[in-house]
Amino acid sequence: GLRKKEVNVLCLGLDNSGKTTIINRLKPSNHSNHLGPLSGEWKHASQTQTQEIVPTIGFNIERFKSSSLSFTVFDMSGQSRYRNLWEHCYKESHAIIFVIDSGDKLRMVVAKEELDTLLNHEDIRNRKMPVLFFANKMDLRDAMSSVRVSQLLSLENIKEKPWHICASDAIKGEGLQEGLDWLHEYMK
Ligand code: GTP
Ligand code: MG
Repeated sequence: GLRKKEVNVLCLGLDNSGKTTIINRLKPSNHSNHLGPLSGEWKHASQTQTQEIVPTIGFNIERFKSSSLSFTVFDMSGQSRYRNLWEHCYKESHAIIFVIDSGDKLRMVVAKEELDTLLNHEDIRNRKMPVLFFANKMDLRDAMSSVRVSQLLSLENIKEKPWHICASDAIKGEGLQEGLDWLHEYMK
């Protein structure tokens, strides 16, 4: 058949925001509540087991397929000592998923700094690539709403790129589908 279009997605955000948990939700091997855009059409390239999620060291690469696209997702570590790795992936990436811990009020300013640095980077600045934000951990009792998170991050100032924010609970898998469907539309 036709070759699927290959797209690289960069998953960024501070440590502990839930990037790896979100990406793990996409794996078909996690049978209970398996999610996928376009009604479960994600296919993972290799066998995977349900793993305990640990802080990412450096980065992990995951591959998924939808009906029309072949995705390579770079799951970067958000720890400060590894954040300098992010920029090496900018040139090759076609979309960004930026994850925020909606319960982490103290570090929202750090998340904003990292986002601003990212958006001003020469390999990102003038490109129309879509940016999907997950205001994750919406289940936490003191979680901020996605509207509040977008205000604190000044997302309305992003003019040159299509962007979208979804509240999510990566543990239950809530909110992820909506975001991924949005992203999928921009990548086709
Ligand atoms: P680094 O790899 O260090 O950059 O972190 P990460 O962004 O990949 O975070 P990770 O997926 O490892 O999740 C960090 C912790 O948050 C884990 O204990 C997860 O179980 C937890 N977590 C992730 N998503 C949610 C969520 O939606 N709600 C709650 N309550 N906890 C979550
Ligand atoms: Mg991780």
